[in-house]
Amino acid sequence: VREDRDDRDRDARRLAAESLDRDDPTGWFERLYAAAESGAAVVPWDSASPQRLLVEWAERFRVRGAGRRAVVVGCGFGDDAEYVAGLGFDTDAFDISASAIRGARQRFPDSRVRYRTADLLDPPAEWRRGFDLVVEIYTLQALPDPPRRQAVTRLRDLVRPGGTLLVIAIARDDAEAPGPPPPWLLTRTEIEAIAIDEITLVRLDEFGEDRRVRAEFRRG
Ligand SMILES: C[S@@+](CC[C@H](N)C(=O)[O-])C[C@H]1O[C@@H](n2cnc3c(N)ncnc32)[C@H](O)[C@@H]1O
Repeated sequence: VREDRDDRDRDARRLAAESLDRDDPTGWFERLYAAAESGAAVVPWDSASPQRLLVEWAERFRVRGAGRRAVVVGCGFGDDAEYVAGLGFDTDAFDISASAIRGARQRFPDSRVRYRTADLLDPPAEWRRGFDLVVEIYTLQALPDPPRRQAVTRLRDLVRPGGTLLVIAIARDDAEAPGPPPPWLLTRTEIEAIAIDEITLVRLDEFGEDRRVRAEFRRG
């Protein structure tokens, strides 16, 4: 399994390294998705299904979205956004990669989700404090710091008063040396530190040996 995973990650690691050499920490996403479109690379995180911990969270807390707005950050090919829309949320979803957004529209041609190309580091002004639910899965850990701190600030800004921010990530132990990036795993302490100002941590659950973390925050 380890070897398979390394194989799947190889294109992403190569393109990320080239991007970082050019001081362009987000340029490789479009190059990866574009290469995948022509069959020249694999998008290693594409499971073609909604994230298990997102589904489990929504089921456990009986999340219903009617009359509420959601946004899915770094949505890739859209499987999580479709799930969120299926809960009844009026849903926006965005990715920095235009090829990913094209892929999402192709995968879900009859979707109610508004897919668009946008950068979390500079999101549309009208989205500020605009959402009852903000879903972020594996995007913060796909960014080195900088620009991750800026990404966290912008992420928090998307949440409306009373709204929820859900972050799903793989946590690294505080004492553990980071592995070869990507990803640039956050520590649990860094994930908890998303809660500042009016944003508070509601609950944080850890899952399994690979230390998947699901953190739910709320803007008071
Ligand atoms: C590791 S992938 C995870 C994709 C998806 N959330 C999932 O869980 O399968 C990170 C995603 O975030 C997108 N991304 C990275 N930086 C971004 C940014 N600054 N703004 C918007 N999307 C970004 C990438 O293109 C990629 O689709």
